[in-house]
Amino acid sequence: MSDRVPPGFGRDAEGRLLIAGRAAEDWVADAGDTPLFLYDSALLSQRVAAFRAAMPQGLGLNYAIKANPFPPLLAHMGTLVDGFDIASGGELALALEAGVAPARISFAGPGKRDRELEAAIRAGVLLNIESAGELARAGAIADRVGQEARVALRVNPPFALKGSGMKMGGTPSPFGVDAADAAAVIRQMQGRPFRFEGLHLYAGSQNLSVEAILESQRQTIALAGALSAEAGVTLAHVNLGGGFGVPYFPGDRELDLPALGRGLAEAIGDRPAALGRTRFVLELGRWLVAGAGVYLCRVIDRKVSGGETFLVTDGGLHHQLAATGNFGTVIRRNYPVANASRAGPGAGPLTVVGCLCTPLDRLADKVDLAGEPGDLIALFHAGAYGRSASPERFLGHPPALERLV
Ligand SMILES: Cc1ncc(COP(=O)(O)O)c(C=O)c1O
Repeated sequence: MSDRVPPGFGRDAEGRLLIAGRAAEDWVADAGDTPLFLYDSALLSQRVAAFRAAMPQGLGLNYAIKANPFPPLLAHMGTLVDGFDIASGGELALALEAGVAPARISFAGPGKRDRELEAAIRAGVLLNIESAGELARAGAIADRVGQEARVALRVNPPFALKGSGMKMGGTPSPFGVDAADAAAVIRQMQGRPFRFEGLHLYAGSQNLSVEAILESQRQTIALAGALSAEAGVTLAHVNLGGGFGVPYFPGDRELDLPALGRGLAEAIGDRPAALGRTRFVLELGRWLVAGAGVYLCRVIDRKVSGGETFLVTDGGLHHQLAATGNFGTVIRRNYPVANASRAGPGAGPLTVVGCLCTPLDRLADKVDLAGEPGDLIALFHAGAYGRSASPERFLGHPPALERLV
């Protein structure tokens, strides 16, 4: 497998990788060191614009900030999307610091502590309630602080998003209330101290099949209609989840966004009458940000062992765990990788590793790259689940730098 430079990036006449129109080496010189994550703000804006162009009018777009909570990136995304989805009190603080109005923030995730519930209720953030117990705690806190709690019920769907990298549905789960029990909990949400707003369903992540995503959206809309009738309530909004995947691996294809948009428009058009005034929202993380990010690390050593050539870099799984295949992947495959200092194939396959003293730290296996000590290596699709989803303190190496450009 050779050098893979995805769309959105290029090379100059000397073969150096260009990121946002400038040589990677120059970005590194500005930042002062490697490893370095660079996020291209123009690519982020283009991604959201492509979403808006393809999706039905009026569909809301939330950014799940767990994918990348780098503050300058959050500030930029806050100007593009309709809301942020958060998963902790720490993410609440980051979302508020990014300048996003609390009315545009929703908070999902099991194990919300009382102090996190209180901070969210005081701020006026929407709570996606995960259990009857959590609802009772939120109600007691809302009564104590004398403030209404905005709530939606997260429902554990009786179906999964088929073919997802991570399925979240169709199985016993810590996430949400089982559909069979949902109407009873929805009834408890009517009246003070709650303001009931709707439902949240999340059936899976990292999916590249238009048909599978549409099927789960259709199932979600049908379930929302059935629950609205069973509980006898109207739903101001339904968060349909997300699951849009990214083509990390050779042979993967970008999702066909226009086909998804057409299918979802049809599904919303056919919704049950009870959902006539419901606003639908999608909640996306990696699809919005992964492709805008590049992880740059420097080759420190080149060595041969047992006939295999290794490039040893100053990067590794402590920053970019996902690229080493250790973040929820069953079979390790290469993310797109390139030599950022020069183009062209090398003298045969080589393996790019990080500087950690563990065989898990493989950034790219048997790729046909040129590579000498001093070269910069670029790993693409690094904008999601990179620095914040990696064991940064493991083995005491310095943290990666991050820049939004
Ligand atoms: C509730 C919820 N929302 C959003 C996401 C974001 O997923 P992705 O980054 O794959 O879009 C996740 C991922 O785990 C999730 O659990």
